[in-house]
Amino acid sequence: MVDIKEMFKSEIKKNSVFKNKNIVSPHYIPDILPFRDDQIKEIISNLAPALQGKKINNLFLYGKTGTGKTSTIKVVLSKMEELAKERTDCKSIVTTYINCRNHNTKYRIILKHINDLYKHDYVGYSSSFVYDKLAEYVKKNKIGLIIVLDEIDLIKDVDDAVYALTRANDELTDGSISIVGISNNVMFKQKLDPRTKSSLCEKELVFPPYNAHELTKILQGRVEEGFNKDCVDDSAIGLASAYAAQESGDARTAILLLLRAGEIADENKEIKITETDVRNAKKTVEKDILLNMVSTLPEQLQYVLFAITRLTKSKNQTTLGPNNEGILHSGEVYNEYYRIAKIQGKSPVSLKWFKQYLEELELYGMIATTISGKGVRGTTTLIKLGVDAKILTGILEPKIGI
Ligand SMILES: Nc1ncnc2c1ncn2[C@@H]1O[C@H](COP(=O)(O)OP(=O)(O)O)[C@@H](O)[C@H]1O
Ligand SMILES: [Mg+2]
Repeated sequence: MVDIKEMFKSEIKKNSVFKNKNIVSPHYIPDILPFRDDQIKEIISNLAPALQGKKINNLFLYGKTGTGKTSTIKVVLSKMEELAKERTDCKSIVTTYINCRNHNTKYRIILKHINDLYKHDYVGYSSSFVYDKLAEYVKKNKIGLIIVLDEIDLIKDVDDAVYALTRANDELTDGSISIVGISNNVMFKQKLDPRTKSSLCEKELVFPPYNAHELTKILQGRVEEGFNKDCVDDSAIGLASAYAAQESGDARTAILLLLRAGEIADENKEIKITETDVRNAKKTVEKDILLNMVSTLPEQLQYVLFAITRLTKSKNQTTLGPNNEGILHSGEVYNEYYRIAKIQGKSPVSLKWFKQYLEELELYGMIATTISGKGVRGTTTLIKLGVDAKILTGILEPKIGI
């Protein structure tokens, strides 16, 4: 009798370039992370004393999105926990991971911890109760608690949260609490209260963008495990890496491009992913990535971006010459932003803050700015949108609703 299940499996495989699609998902975390040896070494040397029961420095990891921060810390901490369990000469440690997008206040973070540690629901208890409960757990069990706060910039009362956790640590006589903060936002640190900054950033580590060569290697690792043999053309890998390197040096973009290109190849019943598939994939991936980026921006930044997008679109229709196409003056952008914020019933920020917002949008690669030469009215900041205005309108218009 034939093995029917096996036949089904090989039939499915036959019609797909994928061997294991999970491996090509941006959520998949490989055991080995090439080009991150330096960061891994630094993290280990900082955390290792916890295994000997010593207090450790808080750690702050930052770098643009897709540079491997989340994956690196998850891999290192899971190995560290394994080791602590295996060896009798290691102190007990507990590591927790929180994405602050989902737990965005001091209270929610501490509540989540005690709910998980005590395996009981403490919702509704006061802030000081949950705080004491957390300290009590650490003390009673004499553990080294390492708390990862990923996307820490999204915590609304971040200064309070960091202060509460470091104070808890200072007051502990047994056990310890330390924080690993992670941010995709390179500007975040500047906005912190100086006291928070010095306690959170006792040790900091940058995750630089990947270059095209590194992205190619990272993709090759995924291709071997995730796709059937000979189903991905080398030139397709090269193009996906080149695109991602040119945009942001972001491994997530590179992997998403390959995933989407694979889906396109399957839809078209092709046996091999080609450069054309990657080129087509780029269109949808760009939108997904932009959508993700925009939705994590604070409301006010979304208004600024929307102002720039609207003006860019209206200018393009009446543009005078190719050289000035889509170039905006910061004054007109501020006015438009002011108007949008008012319509939304929010108070517009001052010009000084507005300039900060422009810097932030530039760091994310969403706009480019330059200072104009001295004109009649002195110098002004010139702004140009760095991403597709049409795609951005499609994302922002339904959100802001003007
Ligand atoms: N050095 C690397 N080797 C293999 N895969 C990587 C590497 N760096 C990042 N990735 C992959 O890229 C994607 C994004 O990485 P992630 O850790 O989420 O970045 P970040 O947290 O900096 O935004 C994930 O799928 C991750 O597995
Ligand atoms: Mg991350």
